Amino acid sequence: MAVAALAGLDLLATAIVIVDRELVVRFANPAAENLFELSSKSLMGNMITEVFEHDRVLGAAIDYARLNHCSYTEHDLKIGVVGHAKLHLSCTLSPVEIEGWVAGWHGLLLEFRHIDQQIKIAREERLHDQSQANRELIRNLAHEIKNPLGGIRGAAQLLDHELERPGLHEYTQVIMKEADRLQSLMDRLLTPHRLPQPAPLNIHEVLERVRSLILAEYPHGITIRRDYDTSVPLLQGDKEQMIQIVLNIARNAAQAMKGNGQLKLRTRIARQVTLARKRHRHALEVQINDTGPGIPENMREKIFYPLVSGREGGTGLGLTLAQNFVTQHGGTITFDSQPGNTTFTLLLPTNNSENGKS
Ligand SMILES: Nc1ncnc2c1ncn2[C@@H]1O[C@H](COP(=O)(O)OP(=O)(O)OP(=O)(O)O)[C@@H](O)[C@H]1O
Ligand SMILES: [Mg+2]
Repeated sequence: MAVAALAGLDLLATAIVIVDRELVVRFANPAAENLFELSSKSLMGNMITEVFEHDRVLGAAIDYARLNHCSYTEHDLKIGVVGHAKLHLSCTLSPVEIEGWVAGWHGLLLEFRHIDQQIKIAREERLHDQSQANRELIRNLAHEIKNPLGGIRGAAQLLDHELERPGLHEYTQVIMKEADRLQSLMDRLLTPHRLPQPAPLNIHEVLERVRSLILAEYPHGITIRRDYDTSVPLLQGDKEQMIQIVLNIARNAAQAMKGNGQLKLRTRIARQVTLARKRHRHALEVQINDTGPGIPENMREKIFYPLVSGREGGTGLGLTLAQNFVTQHGGTITFDSQPGNTTFTLLLPTNNSENGKS
């Protein structure tokens, strides 16, 4: 590696530290400064082992990479610099030779990554694949159910006209009513396939609309706090779908709070995020928080599945639809829930943020 190449490491999102033969830190990029909350000046010139309080696992990994002169990855490091909280990291150590820098010395390049972040990305990718498979399954199933439904309803109607004993009408009415109910359920399942009509969109208009709809539904007992970052860029989105996404989440929150509690709507800019396997410099973060009882433990894995409901009278489609729309917009939807504090977080690409251009 040449000295000039080190400048390139400054741009990486991965934390990089380079140590020399004596294990003295000679380089740390800005991502490393961020990760360890230390300036590179205070890292440089110190022994890496001292910086990390003589962590045994890190020490063994360093020894291994140096002795065998090969790359080595330690997947389970819990380390912190003196005076800071410990971090759960993975570290890849690779022997390097820096040409033209102190007469070409051999050292080690250490790449640190957040394990929690890796798990989160893997989980999001799994959810993305799963939701695509779900969508396909639902559409096929809904079509299969919808087709004979028209026939069943039509036949019941004809039968209804032919029946002579008045007491029997009750049965044909039940068939027709239930067929209608299924029909509208299937229609709801099939709507997400409408392709979004994206246009530049101000998220706060969407949130204000949802706010007024929820307040109209719950005029007493629910307060809505707004924490908007008005400098967030415009979205490229379908307004109606975006309203539906936020409304489904906010309505769930209001229902969970049984019409009594506080809803919070928050917007921020998120930096350096991966959405639908694409890296974006900026993304829009929308959070919908409630003070309700939280999502029961046994429902957490499946609330985005269709027809899963923990609510009397719920169809279990609200979050499925929300997730479908979010995916169509190239974003992600996640949640974090404890009793008294549930937050749904949307991450959406901003207008122009494709391929990290913005
Ligand atoms: N903020 C929340 N707090 C507690 N539980 C929640 C929250 N949001 C969702 N849930 C749980 O997730 C379930 C699924 O939600 P979803 O919106 O998909 O369906 P639903 O509300 O039951 O029915 P639908 O929205 O189709 O009328 C809910 O029934 C509820 O049990
Ligand atoms: Mg719902």
